[in-house]
Amino acid sequence: PNYWAVVPAAGVGKRMGTNIPKQYLPLAGKTVIEHTLDSLLQHPRIQAIVVAVSSEDRWWPECLPQDKERIIRAPGGAERCHSVSNGLECLLSLAAPEDWVLVHDAARPCLRREDIDRLMETLHGHPIGGLLALPISDTVKRANAEGVVLETVNREGLWRAMTPQMFRLEKLYRALREAIAAGVQVTDEASAMEWAGFSPHLVEGYPDNIKITHPQDLMQAEDFLKRQGR
Ligand code: C5P
Repeated sequence: PNYWAVVPAAGVGKRMGTNIPKQYLPLAGKTVIEHTLDSLLQHPRIQAIVVAVSSEDRWWPECLPQDKERIIRAPGGAERCHSVSNGLECLLSLAAPEDWVLVHDAARPCLRREDIDRLMETLHGHPIGGLLALPISDTVKRANAEGVVLETVNREGLWRAMTPQMFRLEKLYRALREAIAAGVQVTDEASAMEWAGFSPHLVEGYPDNIKITHPQDLMQAEDFLKRQGR
């Protein structure tokens, strides 16, 4: 099977408090999304990348990497899951049903080559697929809306889901469409697959692969990219 990527990039990034969507903010000499797309483009096994971009986006395509031949634009959607679904739909005409698709947030510019390799190696021959994740190292609390602790959650077996999430194209597309139609809250691809009755496999990733969400995340990402010479 071949490997493809879908990058949802149609978010507005409310929590950043900037006018520009966070994927277009400057970061280590480029934009956030350029670093993200570069990390995927530099992988020799990824055929092409479908990027879901909002129709109101004024920043695309100026903020793109040089190597544009392997980048395809798809329409963004109201929520992340709709953007991903549009991207997958675009791939259906190019790829085989059993091909792999790596769905990766535009807002995660610190993806390493080793992360992609580990996903591909661990999930090789897997019928469904899986996702990069990190075991939780902090103690976890459940609280009410006022910030009062209700309980300490046993963290054994708890992981933080990251991206890329790598699944068989057709299974993922169907699961996502059906989960959306059923009104299920789908915050990542794996949750749609779980809802459809599949059991995704967790692959431990590097903690550097943060999602740019708050302003201080940019500084952390910049330090990482500079150390890596990117
Ligand atoms: O807002 P959040 O950090 O969860 O967004 C994760 C990713 O999903 C970002 O790359 C964002 O651009 C993308 N997204 C999207 N379409 C939306 C909302 C978010 O492609 N409607």
